Amino acid sequence: MKAPPTRLTIPFIDLQTQYKKHQTEIQTAINAVLEHGRYIMGPEIDVLESALQEFTGANHAIACGSGTDALLLALMSSGVGPGDAVFTTPYTFFATAEVISLVGATPVFVDVDPITYNLNPECLSASIKQTLSADELTPKGIIAVDLFGQPADYDAINQIAAAHKLFVLQDAAQSFGASYKGSRTCSNTPLAATSFFPPKPLGCYGDGGAVFTDGRKIADTIKSIRIHGQGQDKYDNVRLGLNARMDSIQAAILIEKLKFFESEIEMRHRVATLYTEALQDHVAVPRVADDNTSVWAQYSVTSEHRDQIREALNNKGIPTATYYPIPIHLSTAYAHLGHQVGDFPVSEGLSRTMFSLPMHPYLEQQQIEAICDTISSTVSRLNHG
Ligand SMILES: Cc1ncc(COP(=O)(O)O)c(C=O)c1O
Repeated sequence: MKAPPTRLTIPFIDLQTQYKKHQTEIQTAINAVLEHGRYIMGPEIDVLESALQEFTGANHAIACGSGTDALLLALMSSGVGPGDAVFTTPYTFFATAEVISLVGATPVFVDVDPITYNLNPECLSASIKQTLSADELTPKGIIAVDLFGQPADYDAINQIAAAHKLFVLQDAAQSFGASYKGSRTCSNTPLAATSFFPPKPLGCYGDGGAVFTDGRKIADTIKSIRIHGQGQDKYDNVRLGLNARMDSIQAAILIEKLKFFESEIEMRHRVATLYTEALQDHVAVPRVADDNTSVWAQYSVTSEHRDQIREALNNKGIPTATYYPIPIHLSTAYAHLGHQVGDFPVSEGLSRTMFSLPMHPYLEQQQIEAICDTISSTVSRLNHG
């Protein structure tokens, strides 16, 4: 009888190895919060915000409850609302579009670039012109997403925004730690938002996020909205806001993790390079634009044989994921916008062919080889059989 194929145990994302390596510092930091007892907006928040400013180069960092809160705080501070159009990609996590609708504005979807998977500046210009001539919505802003860890083309996007007096919000939920033309993400636009959801490149042990801006006035507005529109006097609420605060324990964890984040970014690069070398003749591997570095939130590839490759990997115990199987313009929640299949062909093609491989700083060479061998042998079999 033939022996069953050996099953591997490769985690898609490995948070445990990192924790075990830094357990002492992280536990000491958590214990300090338990001792002082200021569980929400404690002294760790200021320390974290300063560290985030220093790391990104942004003038102001405002820690908050999640990446979704960060996007929402940024949009609320921009005064966008009903009747306004905010341009964004349909090939992203749902929250990017959702927050536009939550403030009463309308997401206007724009197709992505086939190489970087980020907002295509030519399509963006065309969409703004089309919206202006339709004269139903007022163009107000753009949310550009840095998909899978690679920044969008901010020179082009900022220029288009300036020409039409639109704000640009960088959704850097997946790109914290990456750079565009030598500047870290969250400093490439006047407004940016990121997520510290645990599997993100810099993750805490619960929900967390941050907003970044270069303007003091807007930073003060965001801080007020973060706590129910608080004014100078705690009980004088000067605007409507949210409960979007960050827990002190999450800040304490992030302060510790930020100390070794740069070395983990290097380790992510090593994994991505090994994947690319081994896979480039078998699937379409990610391409990082010359101006960019990626932080490799995901290592995602495309193939017309996606389902068969995923099945072969799964049979060996190698997990994969599909980001994103339904582009947002075709999601049930946005059926009312009346989009059809074919409206954004690049995004729709990526939804059919994209899949992500295990990615974390602690992936071992042998594990990477096992993943790549399975992919190459499956593709060869399908091409020749
Ligand atoms: C592109 C993008 N935007 C926004 C978010 C929302 O972040 P959070 O889950 O922290 O609310 C995510 C998180 O998955 C994301 O990937």
